[in-house]
Amino acid sequence: MTTSSAPGKIYLFGEHAVVYGEPAVPCAIEQRARVTVEQRSDTALRVSADDLTLDGFTVEYDGAATGVPDVDVPQALVEAAMSYVQDAINQALDAADVEDAGFEISIESDIPLGAGLGSSAAVVVATIDAATRELGTVLSAEEIADRAYHVENTVQNGEASRADTFCSAMGGAVRVEGDSCGCINAPSDLPIVIGYDGGSGDTGKLVAGVRDLRNEYTFASDTISTIGDLVRRGETALAEGDTERIGELMNINHGLLSALGVSSRSLANMVWAARDAGAHGAKLTGAGGGGCIVALDPTDETETALQYTPGCERAFRAELTETGVTQV
Ligand code: MEV
Repeated sequence: MTTSSAPGKIYLFGEHAVVYGEPAVPCAIEQRARVTVEQRSDTALRVSADDLTLDGFTVEYDGAATGVPDVDVPQALVEAAMSYVQDAINQALDAADVEDAGFEISIESDIPLGAGLGSSAAVVVATIDAATRELGTVLSAEEIADRAYHVENTVQNGEASRADTFCSAMGGAVRVEGDSCGCINAPSDLPIVIGYDGGSGDTGKLVAGVRDLRNEYTFASDTISTIGDLVRRGETALAEGDTERIGELMNINHGLLSALGVSSRSLANMVWAARDAGAHGAKLTGAGGGGCIVALDPTDETETALQYTPGCERAFRAELTETGVTQV
């Protein structure tokens, strides 16, 4: 039996635009997914996920799902989650040069599903690490990131960036631009507050929506390159540890994401509640449509304000973590 864990992430800047080759800066956070893998004597795959949703679910696989799990999240999200696990196992088999093997897989996650905190990337990264170790092969974090990217890209119909998976595998703050990925310095004490509306967005659909907009309107492709410019300024602010400037740029980034149609009423409410409470800045994080916002506030004001904001189910602090994928 082997257990590995990998962190979730927030995007300080650049989600969506990164799909079109612009830079993005996600940062790994302490909230993690832990995946335990045990090889079976047959070739079946059995997945149980306790904390991925409030109710948890168990799905038995024999190549395909044999039952419909009774869970409190849209069926499409569960199917996507299962595709991620199935494809991660296929990557592990390929990396370990094993033709077929069955596994008992148990997933525990602090990261809500589809909420913009990188749950799928963390699960895929931890699954590849645990399954390859279980088969006697140890991969570098870079190779895990690369294999995890291919999983996300397949599940997201060829429209994924390397950002989520590279960040989860490596930990810390990273910069991703096309195929070029690297770790960067960020202040370790960024005062991150997360607001969660209890919902989720369908990353594939949201990414496709931005693509349609970009194909139809010049303003959308201009917006995407403006996000790229903003990310470059954000990198300078990060290097200088200028939290106020980082917050200001996060506010602008949120406005640009709204223009691309990926915000929602509850995300907007939470962003405004954070700003009114005096946060340096606030924006949605990840694909959008619902899920989480990220704000910067060293005081308790934003967390308290979010707790009383209609549509906000949970508000909590998150710390950056330097620990990427690791065996537990
Ligand atoms: C999703 O967490 C981030 C997106 O930029 C998609 C991706 O980068 O693959 C929306």
